[in-house]
Amino acid sequence: MKVLGISGSPRKDHSTDRLVKEVLNAVDVETEFISLADKRIGPCIACLGCIEDNICKVKDEMRGLRDRIVEADAYVIGAANYYSMLNAMAHCFLERFYQFRHREGKTVAGKLGVAVGIGGSNGDKVVENIKTFFAYNQIECIGSVSAQGAASCFTCGYGESCKVGAVHKFFGPDTKITQEMIPDLDKQPDKLEAARQLGQKLCERLKGFAAAT
Ligand SMILES: Cc1cc2nc3c(=O)[nH]c(=O)nc-3n(C[C@H](O)[C@H](O)[C@H](O)COP(=O)(O)O)c2cc1C
Repeated sequence: MKVLGISGSPRKDHSTDRLVKEVLNAVDVETEFISLADKRIGPCIACLGCIEDNICKVKDEMRGLRDRIVEADAYVIGAANYYSMLNAMAHCFLERFYQFRHREGKTVAGKLGVAVGIGGSNGDKVVENIKTFFAYNQIECIGSVSAQGAASCFTCGYGESCKVGAVHKFFGPDTKITQEMIPDLDKQPDKLEAARQLGQKLCERLKGFAAAT
């Protein structure tokens, strides 16, 4: 049994990576973590070259991930909230699952998934995006976690005076930024705990799968 964790955030070791890893660390079977940050993966170009054999013909770094996706029994997919939807890097990666959808592909259908969403305010929309993606691909979503990551307006240097940024949006004008206000995953132990519980739940489900076969 193997769980593949994928973070679609372009920032390595940032909130999305961390929350995906928190789920993986609670999984008591083999795991692998992949960051898309240093991968060059373009969108699906709808060439339909995958129709016959369920193998994408676009020549980029998705090729190196295909076998790992097929071999995995479950996916923990995390992405960042960019403009209230999942970030483009993650979206490109997910679009390329189109290669698995045709006829009797049976490459990802029936597997388990966990959705992880991170945003400067929250990752709720991202979680919904990933859940929809799972449903299209007949991956059973066993749960999700949404948390607040970084809101750069608190650290960019202009946050207190900027009228269009997150500081004003969250706390109103004339706010003095304090350390306690700055969003950080470490300030959300409940979210970290929820991620660990999802990892345990995923593990139990996978062991149930293994016992049944
Ligand atoms: C281009 C861009 C757009 C963003 N749009 C939103 C947004 O609409 N809502 C939100 O809550 N956070 C938004 N954010 C903040 C990120 O979701 C937040 O920084 C998150 O922590 C990013 O994940 P990371 O920490 O793994 O990089 C945006 C960030 C960027 C760079």
